[in-house]
Amino acid sequence: MPSISLFQIISIFAPLFLIYPLFMSDQSNFKRYTVTSALPYANGPIHIGHLAGVYVPADIYVRYLRSKGEDVLFIGGSDEHGVPITIRARKEGLASQQVVDKYHEMIKKSFEELGISFDVYSRTSAPIHHETASAFFRKLYEQGEFIEKYSDQYFDEEAKHFLADRYITGTCPKCGFEKAYGDQCESCGSSLSPTELINPKSALSGNTPVLKETKHWFLPLDKHEGWLREWILESHKDDWKTNVYGQCKSWLDGGLQPRAVTRDLDWGVKVPVEGAEDKVLYVWFDAPIGYISASREWSLKTGKDWEPYWKSADSKLVHFIGKDNIVFHCIIFPAMLKAEGTYILPDNVPANEFLNLENDKISTSRNWAVWLHEYLEELPGKQDVLRYVLAANAPETKDNDFTWKDFQLKNNSELLAIFGNFVNRTMVLTHKYFEGKVPAVGEMDDYDKQVIAEIGRYPGSIALSIENYRFREALGELMNLARLGNKYLTDTEPWKNFPANPARVATNLNIALQICANLTVLCEPFLPFTATKLANMLNIKQFKWGEAGNANLLAAGHLLNAPALLFEKIEDTVIEAQVKKLLDTKKANEASQWKPMPQKPTITFDDFTKLDLRIGTIVAAEKVAKADKLLRLTVDTGLDSRTVVSGIAAHYSAEDIIGRKVTILINLAPRSLKGIESQGMILMAENSEGKLCFVEPSEPFGSGSEIR
Ligand code: MF3
Ligand code: ZN
Repeated sequence: MPSISLFQIISIFAPLFLIYPLFMSDQSNFKRYTVTSALPYANGPIHIGHLAGVYVPADIYVRYLRSKGEDVLFIGGSDEHGVPITIRARKEGLASQQVVDKYHEMIKKSFEELGISFDVYSRTSAPIHHETASAFFRKLYEQGEFIEKYSDQYFDEEAKHFLADRYITGTCPKCGFEKAYGDQCESCGSSLSPTELINPKSALSGNTPVLKETKHWFLPLDKHEGWLREWILESHKDDWKTNVYGQCKSWLDGGLQPRAVTRDLDWGVKVPVEGAEDKVLYVWFDAPIGYISASREWSLKTGKDWEPYWKSADSKLVHFIGKDNIVFHCIIFPAMLKAEGTYILPDNVPANEFLNLENDKISTSRNWAVWLHEYLEELPGKQDVLRYVLAANAPETKDNDFTWKDFQLKNNSELLAIFGNFVNRTMVLTHKYFEGKVPAVGEMDDYDKQVIAEIGRYPGSIALSIENYRFREALGELMNLARLGNKYLTDTEPWKNFPANPARVATNLNIALQICANLTVLCEPFLPFTATKLANMLNIKQFKWGEAGNANLLAAGHLLNAPALLFEKIEDTVIEAQVKKLLDTKKANEASQWKPMPQKPTITFDDFTKLDLRIGTIVAAEKVAKADKLLRLTVDTGLDSRTVVSGIAAHYSAEDIIGRKVTILINLAPRSLKGIESQGMILMAENSEGKLCFVEPSEPFGSGSEIR
């Protein structure tokens, strides 16, 4: 008898091992969770790209964990240092502190209103942060973790200013993009150093900068390469997202270089060593330490110890970020934490790709965005709609697009037509037939049992998706539960059966109400406002995640509150107003980008005198059949009355221009347009928007007057 070798056994089961990571569930060896979300720069408001990429997924994750009863610290705050802030301040004519004060308050408030449930929302200009970041640097310094180097750096002689990072622009050596920054090319994503730029220009004066010697402290990333390779490329091969893993791998394969962590600037955390007056910490050194400062602030407020969240091996640290932050959170910050020596490393960094808006890259400088504070004002009470649409479109594996049409569709035909409709039908029928009291279940048929079994599947499947950072999939599953409820009502038709079979209807509505109660729990991470409304309607306190997945959440006889609508239809006019706002932005951008045509090649005076230009008067005008753009004009030239076909129908209507004075070129060779002979040409001026207008005499000169 042939025996089966161990190798064969492994081969047979190998596919299972391969599949396993995909279904990996968090077996919670973790006692607590430290969840951070990228600290937004306080140099502008929050837009939907930030939300879809970072804050909505992070909030879903922590709300889910809390519902499971886990110990979570959810950290947010404003990133208030760095060149983006000082550049903004210069532009607005404000002090840097004024800029960050303004945006910090605005951002904090709009996050709160959207229900982003930070345990702490701090800021890096706070004294506790300066203290924390300074001590962190100092410790690394004392442990000999830095190298000190003199190097030549660009300096603007007019502004008397070293030009770090975004203070310098030039052509990207990798892709040729002309507006690359000294630290990064936003076109190809390469990380750069200022001296790599071709044609460097100072962002302060526009001058070409000179090189000047300065001293800086460097974190020798090359020294950390070994363990970073093993930690990321080996240990996190299967659980980090492929986009994150791929970016890390290409960095590591490119070889790590020492990285300067100080800058010659006057805005930031002062470098706490001698000989470093006029220098501050590099913003990407201080900002992630902001997560720790925020935790300390939380600790002071709540009396709870922050240290286990950062230093205990049974804590799970997760960083929610956008893809432009990957290297900082996967390589540089971990190297800092490791060098410090007492901190844990992130367990995962589920970075997202970018969200586009109406097929165009979101851009703060072009004002191409949906701003959160404006959304909250213009579409009040619709926080969950935005959360839903952004979670459903989260750019988890590739860039994604937000359109207002899709926003409307997702509200009207998903939230309203499926979720809202199901809950509403169930509530209304229960009030109609059972005075708003949960009816008792009677005898159950196979379909009822099957539906109840189905309910049992949802908490687990939604949890699995969330724990693996697949929030779109999780949301899809949540909606499937609402679909299940909707289908159950449609199939069992309680509104038809009541007179003949009230017992059947009692069972059906009991089960439908149990689905509503399950939805209350399971929708809370995604749609917290809806969850609250639903809990109020059902007259229950919110359940925990672990209590869901069965048909016993509501006891028979439990009294419900009156039905209320969970979602409202969004009308076309609302969407049209938003689309118009964007179109206006586009127009304004184009106008601001407009430049007059460059001058044409020189001509001689003789060339010019060949043109016979006259004042003419339009005496008749009509549309040319089958030609949208053309008008057939009859023009009195003083010499004769002639026909001219002119492409101005989009700018003038025939009736309005009879009697108008125009400039006409009368000795142009006749041409036939749409079968009409045109005997001359009317001169038109064209502006930045492509609009045309007549060139009229500034005094009432008569037809035939020569123009020379
Ligand atoms: N302000 C940065 C950005 O918007 C993110 C900083 S994240 C932190 O891209 F870790 F540094 F705080
Ligand atoms: Zn580039």
